[in-house]
Amino acid sequence: MNKQWWHEAVAYQIYPKSFQDSNGDGIGDLRGIAARLPYLQALGVNTLWLCPMFASPMVDNGYDISDYRAVHPQFGTMDDLDELLAQAKRRNMHVLLDLVLNHTSDRHPWFESAVSDPESPYRDFYIIRRGQNGLPPNNWRSMFGGSAWERIGDSNDYYLHAFAVQQPDLNWENPLTRRQLYEIIHWWMDRGVSGFRIDAICIIKKDLSFASLPPDGPDGMANPGELWQICPGIEAFLAEMRDEVFAPRGAFTVGECDGVKPEQLADFIGDNGFFTTIFDFSYTNIDLTEGKWYVPSGFTRRQLRDAIFAGQRAVCRSGHGAPYLENHDQNRSPDKYLQPQERCYESKTMLGMLWFFLQGVPFIYQGQELGMENHPWSSLEEFDDVAMPSQYHAALRDGLSPEQALAAIAHRARDNARTPMLWDDCENAGFTTGQPWLPVHPDYPAINAAAQMADDKSVWSFYRDMVKCRLVDAALFYDGDFVPRFEECEHIFAYERGNGASRVLVVCNFHDGVTEVRLPSGMLLLGNARTNGALQAGPYRLAPFEAMLIRLSNQ
Ligand code: NOJ
Ligand code: CA
Repeated sequence: MNKQWWHEAVAYQIYPKSFQDSNGDGIGDLRGIAARLPYLQALGVNTLWLCPMFASPMVDNGYDISDYRAVHPQFGTMDDLDELLAQAKRRNMHVLLDLVLNHTSDRHPWFESAVSDPESPYRDFYIIRRGQNGLPPNNWRSMFGGSAWERIGDSNDYYLHAFAVQQPDLNWENPLTRRQLYEIIHWWMDRGVSGFRIDAICIIKKDLSFASLPPDGPDGMANPGELWQICPGIEAFLAEMRDEVFAPRGAFTVGECDGVKPEQLADFIGDNGFFTTIFDFSYTNIDLTEGKWYVPSGFTRRQLRDAIFAGQRAVCRSGHGAPYLENHDQNRSPDKYLQPQERCYESKTMLGMLWFFLQGVPFIYQGQELGMENHPWSSLEEFDDVAMPSQYHAALRDGLSPEQALAAIAHRARDNARTPMLWDDCENAGFTTGQPWLPVHPDYPAINAAAQMADDKSVWSFYRDMVKCRLVDAALFYDGDFVPRFEECEHIFAYERGNGASRVLVVCNFHDGVTEVRLPSGMLLLGNARTNGALQAGPYRLAPFEAMLIRLSNQ
């Protein structure tokens, strides 16, 4: 394995709209991010993933791009971005942008040309098919609910959109489309970014039969499943993109790829894989039933552990992972994985340790390092997310009362991750001097960065210490083996990581009671319940939600 900078990367995901506002318009921006680089450096992270900040009508908060080579004015200017890249570089930080290649905005000039002129050369940049008897070409359902097809004007033609109506899917079968996309990637590499998180990349290939499927819901529609999720033939597109852009440019890439089977992992993330790494959804979506936000799966902690460990085992056989606990599409982890009465310093730091020392490049999502929690939403009007209404109405159709539907949706809403970052105890938590675009969490006087940075026993300080530990032993954590431990213990999440003789053990008591385990001898490098130092081999009573990172003595 040739040494690459990302072997020592600890990444931090920024949702620009909610990180830091610099001009009082209530919306986070690039200058705001630049102003917070010292904060990020104090935390110790060295790689930043910026969610989309490109020109966009912002229907899906920037995942609907109208110009790939422009910065949305609400985030600042191209000069601001260049300045941010330069400042990050001076601090030895790498910046990853978000590549949205499955679809554009319906306001992108390609699409405007495609729908306004049937003879347009851009017509074939999109997936346009004839309707049947006034109905869409098939019964595929979009990811955000409703038909995946939208009629073009009053014609009989429809375009495909996997997400919102305003996000038409690009036609990857067209080599000219692909060429344009590759040029955009080169253009950004030339500007100094180090790589990309790549949005929805595993649905770029569609089954060209466009066959209708047996309905899987009362709407008569069906989730296309493998007809667009890692659809056979996608390999050729991904290999071409790797060969034409990512490999020659030495880009770090992390694919948003749900549904990659263990036997496919080597192609995706192995040596010369399509991507450097991909995100695993098996444990972050464990609370969902078929993607429906309002149907909790009722998962157990044992199932959660099995999912995390199965993912790690598979990834370690083939390449490297990108462990994470939260992102901008998830609810907050204390709400997802803990009961309300369990949410405290110990449980939040234990959740942090649980995943942070897994193999690959870890990604922290903004606010996670503070133990931010879901917002206490009180009405539907408070939400911003374009995906929200269809989930709400589907919940009502499925028989939930308006109150039940709101409660169920509010728990899983993506906006939970998108409320403003909590910086201090000033008005609006220091995020803006104006009117924030989403409500600020009312707990900010207690949960905020300034207070936690001044407190050695805070979630933030624990994350800082975890990052330090990880970087001291970067090679071990990036590449070392992964061995589950104490799997027979009901409440214990534990694994060993090792590199030859150098071995560490992570032990987490995922339980609000004491659990006894026999630990080997070693040195406690970091814990949330006891002081660092030598540990004798023997039985230990782990406190509720106790978490330990132990360097094992050489056997
Ligand atoms: C995945 C992104 O993470 C999500 O926020 C977005 O809505 C969809 N892809 C569509 O781009
Ligand atoms: Ca602003």
